[in-house]
Amino acid sequence: MKVFFVTGGAGFIGSAFVHLVLRERQDVSIIDFDALTYAGNLENLKDADPARHRFVRGDIRDKEAVLSALPDGADAIFNFAAESHVDRSITSASEFVTTNVLGTQVLLDCVRAKNVGRFVQVSTDEVMGSLPEDDSAFFLEDSPLQPNSPYAASKAAAEHFVRAARETFGLDTVITRCGNNYGPRQFPEKLIPLMIANAMRNEPLPVYGDGMNVRDWIFVDDHARAILAAYECGVSGSHYNVGARNERRNIEVVRSILDALGKPHSLIRYVQDRLGHDRRYAIDATLVENELGWKPATTWEDGLAATIDWYRNNQDWVEHIRNGAYREYYREMYAEKLGN
Ligand code: NAD
Ligand code: DAU
Repeated sequence: MKVFFVTGGAGFIGSAFVHLVLRERQDVSIIDFDALTYAGNLENLKDADPARHRFVRGDIRDKEAVLSALPDGADAIFNFAAESHVDRSITSASEFVTTNVLGTQVLLDCVRAKNVGRFVQVSTDEVMGSLPEDDSAFFLEDSPLQPNSPYAASKAAAEHFVRAARETFGLDTVITRCGNNYGPRQFPEKLIPLMIANAMRNEPLPVYGDGMNVRDWIFVDDHARAILAAYECGVSGSHYNVGARNERRNIEVVRSILDALGKPHSLIRYVQDRLGHDRRYAIDATLVENELGWKPATTWEDGLAATIDWYRNNQDWVEHIRNGAYREYYREMYAEKLGN
């Protein structure tokens, strides 16, 4: 059996990756290491086969905890664990620095201590900043790192530590930089699940600024497959941009959700813009397609319909979150914006 040590596997993308690996790689067992912050949810793992999946609650900033959970000679670490929401990083950046930067360095130290085969860092296109609205510009593998939010800065810093560990100690590392994910089990602080959850309750849908910012959306399972491909076929020391060539303006996304749910566009509220709001993300995925033989399998139309269905059929999952600390978060983040 191969052993994968997956950090952040109780979150949105990490849990999708865990399910993918358990489904499609019968020769792999997983140690799932997650601190269960507000974004971590054991419900996301309830169907994981206990014969090949072991959950350990722990913090990637805690070296002793990582060392005691990480077996000698594990085949890979997949680092999903992070503070991942831009708005929260604008309110307070310190957790982003400690988890995303220090936590990554702790894992790199543990790779050396335990002779781990390959380290896969799950990074983001946001490290490359923002593109002009002109359609001909895309993020490429050699685009400069120009992070604009504290979140993006912390992910860029983490990438530098991954590179340094490779150059200094010869670690086998691969980095993936993906665009905006959507799909089941995404915490409803992010655009798509927030809009679905609010629309289902006939509550206002807060759209930042003029709603014309562009994001490049990818279904979460396609991202998970790209990460697995980067582990299995990626060239050591490389980084790969991952995207589904699916640019959408925010307002278009929000209107599509309302239409799919049969709700009126009058629920839309234009609110004060996010500080430093990146205008456009768009990924040229040629390298990942050619070098890893990866292609997205899910169209935007199918993926959005499946996502909306999932939230419709899992209202308990959403309500459980909305009844907890999320209520206070939502009030602090949106009360003034929505004039409540
Ligand atoms: P998420 O917020 O849904 O999940 C993060 C997970 O990490 C949670 O389970 C949380 O409990 C865990 N975690 C947080 N701090 C931890 C710590 N100190 N120690 C151990 N576990 C900790 O995030 P996500 O959207 O699933 O993103 C996963 C990764 O993918 C992140 O690294 C993010 O930067 C990256 N990414 C996300 C997107 C996206 O669109 N969501 C796109 C590209 C890359
Ligand atoms: O590009 C990859 C990144 O995508 C990931 O690295 C991040 O972890 C992930 O959170 C995401 O970042 P964004 O900031 O693009 O995602 P978010 O869902 O927060 O916002 C998407 C767009 O929608 C953005 O332009 C801001 C806007 N927005 C968001 C919220 C929460 C709104 O208009 N209203 C909202 O209430």
